[in-house]
Amino acid sequence: MSGAVCPPCARWAVVCRDEQVWLHGRRLARHDLAIPTSLKEQNLNAAAVVPAAGRGERLGPGAPKALRELGGVPLLVHAVRALTRSRAVTLVVVVAPADGVARVRELLDSHGAGGDEGPRVLVVPGGGTRQESVRLGLAALPPEVDVVLVHDAARPLVPVDVVDAVARAVADGAPAVVPAVPLADTVKQVGPAPAPGQPEPVLGTPDRSTLRAVQTPQGFRRDLLQSVHDKALSEAVDATDDAGLVERYGGQVVLVPGHEEAFKVTRPLDLVLAEAVLARRRANDEF
Ligand code: C5P
Repeated sequence: MSGAVCPPCARWAVVCRDEQVWLHGRRLARHDLAIPTSLKEQNLNAAAVVPAAGRGERLGPGAPKALRELGGVPLLVHAVRALTRSRAVTLVVVVAPADGVARVRELLDSHGAGGDEGPRVLVVPGGGTRQESVRLGLAALPPEVDVVLVHDAARPLVPVDVVDAVARAVADGAPAVVPAVPLADTVKQVGPAPAPGQPEPVLGTPDRSTLRAVQTPQGFRRDLLQSVHDKALSEAVDATDDAGLVERYGGQVVLVPGHEEAFKVTRPLDLVLAEAVLARRRANDEF
């Protein structure tokens, strides 16, 4: 083993004989030591907004989805850690259920994800829809932030490479960036069933090679994201993702490669898969 200083954070790291890099007992991938030059060179300041105020009813009864546990740790804590691991992120704004701000603050602190080390972590109350929660998160950003990554708490296992790639693409000039993966399933467009309980008629089959499933974090220039949220509020427009708002108002959105482990935990089976992914990571990477 030999000693080295981790260039981006100036903390002590250790390199073992196999050229593995260790920091605070955790084996790091090489990207952890890469300096995110694009943001720094352009003097850009990136913050993350984490909508975590959903009830998660499709997961079944219990705590709000973001507070359900994965490997003994709340989904939200995993998601915040994934963001704070990126050297691009300088601040994380967690949007908690309106009646759960104190509980979320306490949970983050008790898991060491409250911002004592690394990027600052704020917790603000959310709204009745995801879009409203994102808007409330945006309102809490300090003026110096010019790039925003919006990341669902329900995607706890997003690899840091994906976070970095999205931030880098925004820094390199794309105003709206979405990580995406090809579809495994063929998708059918359907019409309404003629009567309740009757089969739905198929209207068409879009060419699968032109379709992508999109993930988060989605990255934006702050002024663009703020302006589409303002317009959506004034026109009562609702979208299921932030990039959808940019598209609606004529902005160009581009894709970067997402990752199969950045899937959204929605149904009980997703939690089983997430537990398996986490166990595999712990066995391989020992964190
Ligand atoms: O419901 P869905 O899975 O699309 O939620 C995506 C993300 O939006 C989740 O992280 C959820 O906690 C968040 N959300 C929110 N406020 C709401 C509804 C959902 O922050 N009112």
